Amino acid sequence: MQLLDGKIASAAILQKIKSKTAAATVAGKRKPHLAAILIGNDGASETYVASKVKTCTEIGFDSTLIRFSNDIAEKELLQKIEALNLDPHIDGILVQLPLPKHIAEEKIIHAIAPHKDVDGFHPYNVGMMTSGAPTFIPATPYGILLMLEHYQIPTKGKHAVVIGRSHIVGTPMSILLSRKGYPGDCTVTLCHSATTNLKEIALQADILIAALGKTEFITADMVKPGAVIIDVGITRVEDSSKKSGFAIKGDVKFDEVAPIASAITPVPGGVGLMTIAGLMMNTWNAYQKHIAA
Ligand code: GUN
Repeated sequence: MQLLDGKIASAAILQKIKSKTAAATVAGKRKPHLAAILIGNDGASETYVASKVKTCTEIGFDSTLIRFSNDIAEKELLQKIEALNLDPHIDGILVQLPLPKHIAEEKIIHAIAPHKDVDGFHPYNVGMMTSGAPTFIPATPYGILLMLEHYQIPTKGKHAVVIGRSHIVGTPMSILLSRKGYPGDCTVTLCHSATTNLKEIALQADILIAALGKTEFITADMVKPGAVIIDVGITRVEDSSKKSGFAIKGDVKFDEVAPIASAITPVPGGVGLMTIAGLMMNTWNAYQKHIAA
């Protein structure tokens, strides 16, 4: 069994971006700049955004963290996004999800200028991706593709089963894996909460992508021996033995699935780190277009 180590794969990608950033700044160019908006004080969102900002610093990007309290008016948030859209020094804008209930997620996503939408959530970029045009790919599916590539996991003709149909992970993942070329050319089945014979389908997977957000949902009896397992779950569960008071659990029961898999991502230390690598790649690509314009 091969461990698909997000630390190793993301470090390789980040190192390349860091070198290119250093070369650009030596040549007199400004640094790439990511703006992250964080609303409220959800512990998990705080951690994710902090990692994104920290990674920017590590690879030589500028970053700006903009914090709002939970009761921010939708209008104020839209005004901030518009200001960032117009700011020539900002390459990428990300609004950490989920948002408070009184704010319409769709409205916020639509407000981000497509050329700064490094999350790849704007319908323009979703349309570009779906039609196979080069664009920003949502960071988690992008990170998974980068992981498959880093470890040279064969994908052509494989049956990929994606569990979960979110617009952030499952839906784009299913589209990307079915695309022509590498890593793609898969036959894809997208399963979700209304799928009736989930276990039967999961057992047919050569590549199983668990992105449903249910702790340790995938058990050994749902996995074909030799399958490649990609665990997208990152759920906090109470654990008094930890200093933080919680442990991070994936959607896969790692201990029983790992021995029968040919390759598997750990949680933590797997897909989560690749998501950040995907985001940094998108920010780098946005920057390149902006400095060339
Ligand atoms: N919340 C969970 N995943 C993501 C992500 O990839 N981007 C943003 N903006 N919010 C998220």
